[in-house]
Amino acid sequence: MASITHARFGAIRPAQRYDLVQRSLHWAMAAVILSAIGLGITCALLPRTDLREALLTIHKSLGMTALALIVLRLPYRLAVGAPPPSSALGWATRIAADIVHVALYALMIAMPLSGYVNSVAGGHAAPWFGLFDWPSLVPRDAALGRAAGAVHFWLAWAFCAALALHISAALWHAFVRRDDVLARMWPARAAAKRLSSQG
Ligand code: HEM
Ligand code: HEM
Repeated sequence: MASITHARFGAIRPAQRYDLVQRSLHWAMAAVILSAIGLGITCALLPRTDLREALLTIHKSLGMTALALIVLRLPYRLAVGAPPPSSALGWATRIAADIVHVALYALMIAMPLSGYVNSVAGGHAAPWFGLFDWPSLVPRDAALGRAAGAVHFWLAWAFCAALALHISAALWHAFVRRDDVLARMWPARAAAKRLSSQG
């Protein structure tokens, strides 16, 4: 694969980028999770109508999809590792980015699990796009369901805060610093085209 170089974005070689599996999982999960957050907030604001039920089914289905994908992503990440850190970052920024990434991984597990326990312990289904219901692995227990609902609610705020930091940092690197940080996670061809069109 050819190197992608550009003065304003810095140079980036394949070895400095996340591999295809990691990039695909990152962007697929980003789309799923950002949609789940939007729908979750919408459901929390809507009155109990049929529309809310339909949107909640999609929310739960997206959340369970995220749980299935993180089960693949985390072992892959632990086995394959990450490319060496961008030389555009100082040591303090690297540590800050690592802390946010670890928090995001923890939240990608805790959010769907707390949502699942909230629904199933509360006596509701955990559906997947109307095709099937995920098995009920926790007993029906109203107090447990409410506790999981509170965890889901408070972690949602933490998730939004961590994502606001993560996304604004990525955009700042791309459009203000114009270094190689976003290119590490960007689709290869699009990154090459984007970089060459800048020149
Ligand atoms: C517009 C949205 C997003 C942008 C622009 C973005 C950008 C990036 C970039 C550039 C990196 C590589 C950082 C580096 O190592 O230099 C990264 C890593 C990461 N992103 Fe995102 N991201 C977005 C959304 C999300 C979402 C929704 C999540 C879900 C939790 C997420 C989770 C992660 C994680 C966990 C890593 C660390 C990867 C690893 O080292 O294993 N990102 N992101
Ligand atoms: C990545 C996964 C998920 C994310 C990011 C997420 C995010 C959210 C957010 C932001 C809210 C609104 C705040 C609140 O009321 O708690 C919410 C509500 C909710 N979520 Fe999730 N969620 C996820 C997975 C799930 C799963 C897997 C289920 C169930 C199987 C679920 C069930 C619910 C329920 C029942 C609500 C309450 C809606 C209401 O108050 O009317 N969530 N979620």
